[in-house]
Amino acid sequence: MVNVPSEFPAGGMMPMTEPTGPSAIAQPGLDILRVLLVDDNAHVLQFLTSAFKMHNCFVSTAGTAEQALDLLADTLFDLVVSDIKMPGLSGLDLLRAVKGKQPATPVVLMTGVPSINSAVFGLRHGAYDYLPKPFSVKEVQQLIQRLRKDRVSGHGNLGQPAGLMEELARRQTGMEGLFKIGELALQGLDPGIFVDTVLDFTIQSLRGDAALLLLRDHEGNFTPSQKGDTALVSSLLSLLHNAFNELVATGGKEALTLTTREQPFTALAALIPGVGKSMGILCLGRDAQNGAFLPDEKEFLLGYAQTTALALQRILLRENLESNLIDTISSFVNALEAKDLYLKGHSARVSLYAGEIAGTMSLSPLQVFVTRRAGILHDLGKLVILDSILHKPGRLTKEEYALITRHPLVAYKILKPLRFLAQEADAIKYHHERYDGKGYPDGLKGEEIPLPARIVMVADSFDAMTSTRPYRSALPHDVALAEVLRGKGVQFDPRVIEAFSSIPRTRITEISRYYDARATSVLGDGSRGAQAGTEVVTCKPAVEVDC
Ligand SMILES: [Fe+2]
Repeated sequence: MVNVPSEFPAGGMMPMTEPTGPSAIAQPGLDILRVLLVDDNAHVLQFLTSAFKMHNCFVSTAGTAEQALDLLADTLFDLVVSDIKMPGLSGLDLLRAVKGKQPATPVVLMTGVPSINSAVFGLRHGAYDYLPKPFSVKEVQQLIQRLRKDRVSGHGNLGQPAGLMEELARRQTGMEGLFKIGELALQGLDPGIFVDTVLDFTIQSLRGDAALLLLRDHEGNFTPSQKGDTALVSSLLSLLHNAFNELVATGGKEALTLTTREQPFTALAALIPGVGKSMGILCLGRDAQNGAFLPDEKEFLLGYAQTTALALQRILLRENLESNLIDTISSFVNALEAKDLYLKGHSARVSLYAGEIAGTMSLSPLQVFVTRRAGILHDLGKLVILDSILHKPGRLTKEEYALITRHPLVAYKILKPLRFLAQEADAIKYHHERYDGKGYPDGLKGEEIPLPARIVMVADSFDAMTSTRPYRSALPHDVALAEVLRGKGVQFDPRVIEAFSSIPRTRITEISRYYDARATSVLGDGSRGAQAGTEVVTCKPAVEVDC
């Protein structure tokens, strides 16, 4: 039996060692393993040699990866155990070389705590296991036992220990979060929805209990969005307040660990960099009982913040482009309405009524936005209809009416190719469909009609009745509301009518007075309101509506 210390000291460089040939202390009943030990530290080599010899191994040693490669050139080994950090080629280089020459040979990497990430990298590239320094004879013994067992059960195909698989899975999830955030930028999301999704990914991928994203506006004010434990969120906010200057000083190049002695949690925070100045802060908190954050999780959060910055810049750029396009399209509607002073601001009012209804129905912010935009653009298709028909004071002929009723489809064809307006295009196409199926263009019924279209239908009808026409005065609001109620479940969706009738009268009156440029500012979302009127053609449905 060889006497060896139970544990060798970590660290400490020793002279280079010469490669040595195999040797073993034979033990009956155990197959002999050929082991190559590689380390530039002679003490470590000596310790390992003794430990492996105790367990029926032929041991060869090398002081560098280059020497190990020489030995591997003409000897087949059952196991290679190598340090990661060595002069010249590293243990990771050696691992790649072994996997290229002898793919079935298991490689175990030895590492100190600072290079644990390298060990995990090694595991991803086919290492069998890693031994964190300092390790004991017992750990070496366990390694050899597991290797012998795996050789028997796996017929040479060695699996990886369960704990390490968990580690790999954890890091893989962290990496996936990074890609997911990058992909979000391509999905054309509203910034608010994007931020919410980033918070979800951050909590899930990095196993947090709460996440916070502070977005800076043009005036330098921060708007918080948060997910997870509310008490933890408010603690994170106060921590960030104290660490703000320190975070700014990182320039977005480093994530910070934020802890306080009195608080039972740990937190990570990273600046979301921007052009010139930062765009915000991403922060993740974890209850202390769920463990501290690992160094690689800190790196991941930094990566999330940087990817969020790129995604946000892309989203904001796209938003500006879309907003400009909406402005251009709206200007066509304005031009159309400008021809008729009687209906000045019709589209803007329809948009405002529709937005109120959608909000009252507790639709998502995105759906409210879509409904409002559909309202402002709903008459776009009338651009192609001859003025002589649009402005005809008397009743329309059958042919003229047929032409007029094409306007939803015309708008649909204009807008549908613009993918970001796909929902608005659908809403506009069907804004003359009736709940009872007697509308046009497709005679859709009830829930078949997109909800924004059912909402615009009500808003359009109410505004038509409460606006002055060349052939009649505006109806009082009470009368128009009674008319709309009469169409409940027939022409109009009952749920939409209920929402509409619950809007405060003061608000209805307020909207009805928006007929000039002020309507534009009321929209407040980049979509410019129409500023002039549009022609009404009376089609005599149950309730009057702009065709
Ligand atoms: Fe219409």
